[in-house]
Amino acid sequence: MPLWGGRFSKNLDKTTNDFNSSFPFDARLIHDDLEGSLAHTEMLRAQKIINNQDAKKIRQGLLAIQAKIQHLDSPSVYDLIKIFDLDSENLPEDVHTFVEQELTKNIGDAGKRLHTARSRNDQVALDLRLYARRQITEIMDDLKSLILTAIKLAEDNIDNIMPGFTHLQHAQPITFAHHLSAYLEMFDRDMTRLKNTKKSINRMPLGSGALAGTTYPIDRKKVAELLEFDDITRNTLDSVSDRDFVIDFLENLSLIMLHLSRLSEELVLFSSQEYSFIELDDAFSTGSSIMPQKKNPDIPELIRGKTGRVYGDLVALLTTMKGLPLAYDKDLQEDKEALFDAIDTVKSCLITITPMLKTITVNRSVMFTAAKKGYLNATDLADYLVKKGLPFREAHKISGALVQEAIKAHEPLDNLDLETYQKYSPLFKSDLYRAIDLRTCVKNRCTPGGPSPLVMRPYLTKLKKKYA
Ligand code: ARG
Repeated sequence: MPLWGGRFSKNLDKTTNDFNSSFPFDARLIHDDLEGSLAHTEMLRAQKIINNQDAKKIRQGLLAIQAKIQHLDSPSVYDLIKIFDLDSENLPEDVHTFVEQELTKNIGDAGKRLHTARSRNDQVALDLRLYARRQITEIMDDLKSLILTAIKLAEDNIDNIMPGFTHLQHAQPITFAHHLSAYLEMFDRDMTRLKNTKKSINRMPLGSGALAGTTYPIDRKKVAELLEFDDITRNTLDSVSDRDFVIDFLENLSLIMLHLSRLSEELVLFSSQEYSFIELDDAFSTGSSIMPQKKNPDIPELIRGKTGRVYGDLVALLTTMKGLPLAYDKDLQEDKEALFDAIDTVKSCLITITPMLKTITVNRSVMFTAAKKGYLNATDLADYLVKKGLPFREAHKISGALVQEAIKAHEPLDNLDLETYQKYSPLFKSDLYRAIDLRTCVKNRCTPGGPSPLVMRPYLTKLKKKYA
């Protein structure tokens, strides 16, 4: 039976009932629904809206339901059907209906008092905030593990020289640590965004009723305190129709996926025969059903591929929200599957990419050999002349001409002899070879944020402290 049968003379059409029902997916809010209901009950009791005896019965009834599902982090409708022996042909409309029905079945009439001074509109807003708050904390933990893993890998590769790219062309020498720390910056920003979103989630909407509050003497602040919210929401219409916090969360998740996808793309590229900079561990690679020699990077590819669905979840909810009149509309029920899907996807990607990154083999010598190709030290050659007094534009020209000479000779700049150099400028002396040595080039790039180990070391130490 629905919670609203009184005004109706017929049961809801079966197909329509299935269409309208959210229980198949909102079952996973049951922990949050119970937690919210426990706080609501305590507030009703303290405010003498229900008596102590009823409150005690309701509390015990809710705790009994809770005890049956305690072992499940994210119960599905199938779990609930099994645990509570539900008739799958006649399921409740949503998780809120289920809890109330189960409670009333177990404790009798007192259960019918739980919904006093509450509507499913403010109830679902509360449940979703509780759920989002739990999940964002878990995602922050997973992201932290990834960050710590990337820091460790960067530390191990602090002087491991590789080519830095622009336009995917060899550009200037950097280190693998420096490359990884670009991702560390992305993940660090993701963490800041999640923290801010947690704040936007952490407002308590219960007591807003269906849309216009209630005439009962409720105490919204008490519920907020019991549930450890920072504060209560400030407008009852907004409280039941606001899903900005879900959109904030989905935006954060989309950016996390964007970053994971870029990293995945590079893991795919760098593990290809052409690069061979890294090798993925066998435990995180797959084979081919036809080509026995193949070792495929399916996992980073899948992470890259899953980015699309998380963007889809964000765009779906943005579109659903657009043009909704105040206050609650049933369209809002569509918020859940988008959020659940994005959370599940991001969590699964984070817990897969972290051990994969932890176990990669880095081919230092291949990276270094690659860095010797493509005249990565041409800028440093020009800078050498600038340090000897030549204007940069002229130095750039001379360095370019020497690169051309080296290309013709099929040699790196380091292998041209001093005479050749001096044909282009008398400023060249034998110390030029040290100046254009890749190790010198990297070490001297001491710009804040640059690749020099002198810069990278304190950077990584500081970041490690932040996440320790
Ligand atoms: N299942 C609904 C949702 O997810 C709960 C709120 C129902 N409220 C209503 N007035 N029909 O949004």
